[in-house]
Amino acid sequence: MSILLTGGAGFIGSHTAVELINAGYDVVIADNLSNSNKKVIDRIEKITGKRPKFYEIDVAIKEELYKVFDENNIEGAIHFAGFKCVPESTKIPLKYYRNNLDTTLSLLEVMKEYNCNAIVFSSSATVYGDKNPVPFKEDMPVGGATNAYGSTKLMIENILTDVVKASDGFSAVMLRYFNPIGAHPSGLIGEAPDGIPNNLMPYVTQTAIGVRDHLIIYGEDYNTHDGTGVRDYIHVVDLARGHVAAIKYATEHLGIEAINLGTGNGNSVWDVVHAFEKANNVKIPTAIGNRRPGDIDECYASVDKAAKLLNWHAELTLEDMCKDSWNWQRNNPKGYED
Ligand code: UFG
Repeated sequence: MSILLTGGAGFIGSHTAVELINAGYDVVIADNLSNSNKKVIDRIEKITGKRPKFYEIDVAIKEELYKVFDENNIEGAIHFAGFKCVPESTKIPLKYYRNNLDTTLSLLEVMKEYNCNAIVFSSSATVYGDKNPVPFKEDMPVGGATNAYGSTKLMIENILTDVVKASDGFSAVMLRYFNPIGAHPSGLIGEAPDGIPNNLMPYVTQTAIGVRDHLIIYGEDYNTHDGTGVRDYIHVVDLARGHVAAIKYATEHLGIEAINLGTGNGNSVWDVVHAFEKANNVKIPTAIGNRRPGDIDECYASVDKAAKLLNWHAELTLEDMCKDSWNWQRNNPKGYED
């Protein structure tokens, strides 16, 4: 029995592949490498001693998925495949709707044809919008996404809800990620953004290594303890372990659950910058810039449901996240490129 990871060569997918293999699962990765690198497969093998089966396919194309399901006994799927760049999604929304919805619809149709009844979906804390008080709890109203990326996450949560309602025996866990950072402690896999990073930690590590001049802090007038935006940063290895617990849950329980994966702690941009400088003994040049449109004051998780249903909680600290992010960046200054 194998677990299929769509988009399994990406940042979160590759770390999840490692944790699944470590937990004894057979892993099959389907990825078109649109935002990832084939070397990831070698690195997963290097870390775990076991090579995941790899299909370089577009998950939106059902004929290609049939081959994966014909050649493997897929017990459940973890669906990472999708575009994730928030600013790009506001500029080219159709690219996001087409890809993120098509990959999901094709996967669900093929799963049903093959009687594969358990799915874990990469959702996002963005579904909570900007009207809810922190900490965000799974039973709060969702909606009000400010960009097409976030809208696709909401739409896919709705699709999964309808599919589970209509099908006997189908189960889904929608994992709402907070802010995954860090890297595998081996330094062999990590986040490798294409071009100028949009997210905080890759920008910090690229500044530390000198690829970027300085970090611009997007606003110092938020309603937070030091005026900069507060987020729930979670180590990607903790996040990956949450997926192992979630796929186990989905294969053993019927129905649908939305579950937050965060630490429950909020840290500001300054908290992250100072923790990074302290953990790694480096200096990050900074400048204060304008607010970034769509950013909210605070975003952190209620973590009780993950503890109760999945028996999972985050264990690694902000210091671990800073050390491992830097270790990855230093060992791979150009990501997966030579
Ligand atoms: N920030 C800076 N400078 C930068 C980059 C970010 O100050 O160069 C700040 C942001 O303003 C924010 C914080 O750092 O306060 C975190 O920003 P990120 O871009 O790293 O992450 P976001 O919280 O904006 O977005 C992340 C994911 C989204 C997801 C969202 C869910 O990138 O995919 O969390 O809440 F939708």
